Amino acid sequence: MTNSDVAVVVLAAGKGTRMESEIPKVLHGVAGRPMLMHVLDAAAAVAPQRTIVVVGHGMDAVAQVVNGVAMVTQESQLGTGHAVLQTQPELNDFDGDVLVLFADSPLITSATMRRLVDARRNAVNPAVAVLGFRPLDPADYGRLVTNGSGQLEAIVEFRDADATQREIGLCNGGVMAIDGAVLFKYLSQVGSDNAKGEYYLTDLIEIARRDGRECVVVECPEEETYGINSRTDLAAAEAVMQQRLRATAMAGGVTMVDPDSVYLSSDTTFGRDVVLEPQVYFGPGVRIGDGVHIRAFSHLEGATVAAGATIGPYARLRPGADIGAAARIGNFVEVKASTVETGAKVNHLTYIGDARVGEGANVGAGTITCNYDGVAKHHTDIGAGAFIGSNSSLVAPVKIGDGAIVGAGSAISRDVPAGALAVTRAEQSEKPGWAKKFFGRLKARSNSEKS
Ligand code: UD1
Ligand code: CA
Repeated sequence: MTNSDVAVVVLAAGKGTRMESEIPKVLHGVAGRPMLMHVLDAAAAVAPQRTIVVVGHGMDAVAQVVNGVAMVTQESQLGTGHAVLQTQPELNDFDGDVLVLFADSPLITSATMRRLVDARRNAVNPAVAVLGFRPLDPADYGRLVTNGSGQLEAIVEFRDADATQREIGLCNGGVMAIDGAVLFKYLSQVGSDNAKGEYYLTDLIEIARRDGRECVVVECPEEETYGINSRTDLAAAEAVMQQRLRATAMAGGVTMVDPDSVYLSSDTTFGRDVVLEPQVYFGPGVRIGDGVHIRAFSHLEGATVAAGATIGPYARLRPGADIGAAARIGNFVEVKASTVETGAKVNHLTYIGDARVGEGANVGAGTITCNYDGVAKHHTDIGAGAFIGSNSSLVAPVKIGDGAIVGAGSAISRDVPAGALAVTRAEQSEKPGWAKKFFGRLKARSNSEKS
């Protein structure tokens, strides 16, 4: 058999009541990505021939996110067995492995999925391979009942288990690889005569055993089976995911002074010899090149930073920020939808929005690109080697030519030719002795009021 004989079914129809949310549970984010997408990404590595997501009624928002993956609706949530049954129209003719995953368990790895599928395809050709784990606290997980030779005889839900069964430490992780040739035959035999009155997917084991088929268990670390039901669970999953992402980044050549204070997205990419100081946050869509140094308290999302650039401390790179090689973005600088070319410097207290800062240009402290007129956004173009004096406003659309200078404190609303000086501030005048006289008068008045 080849991997193309795998169909993935992701169960996502649960209401997620305990999230107290208007958003379907499976769209809540872990490391900047909906939890459902983590499951789909991991499943994609198994190269399934088909992938089907089972959603609940009214979960239209899920369709937008999974875009391109088949979906079926389970009108009412009558249990995990009933949920898988909804895929029958799609999978009736499918006789490979049906890998059932839970959308609210985003920490499962593709390696574990592969082990499960491989176990299903072993010599004894079991009907089902079930993912098991041994939690510190087995709580109310389903218990895996095995025989003397370690083969699985039944899965008993906690609420339906007797005292002896509740003593079992091996629990059901929920994930299964099932022989597609018998899946729907067995599912049609599942009833709802149990504590919850639901159609349990877990009943497949006893049904398969009665049919003379074997069932096996594949064990994985507890962490991978972790299911999210509440915001507290969500935070715990986030913590695990962050640890994994940090470890991967460091293994790839990133130095983190204080890894626990760096927050990554699942799609953050790094070159080698990147240094991350403490308290740096990466939202989705960030790509960092070789040798980039990101100093403390910086916030980046949707940004690209080329080799050798320095960012921060306290910098904010927003979507569309494209920072060139060896450029410098300093403290309290915000860059949005702008290109800062090679070697350019924007070091202090500046907003660069909808702009190009040409190669080697220097943008002085407190410069603002005034990109928004209240209705539309406009472009500012700063030429190569231009020098923008501090506290300048560049009122877009406007173009500063190559090598031009803008005098400090100017409000520039017309294009400046290459090599020119533009300055818009009022003439300076001096009044000798004026300040001394002025303070004298103020002091005299204050003294007379006190007496
Ligand atoms: C399930 C297992 C239990 C296992 C546990 C591991 C069953 C009967 N029980 O219990 O043995 O220890 O997972 O976490 O399978 N879902 C639907 N439609 C439904 C019901 C559920 O799509 O009608 C989805 C949920 O969205 C969720 C997944 O199936 O993603 C699991 O459902 P849940 O109700 O959380 O199962 P548990 O009671 O935790
Ligand atoms: Ca659950």
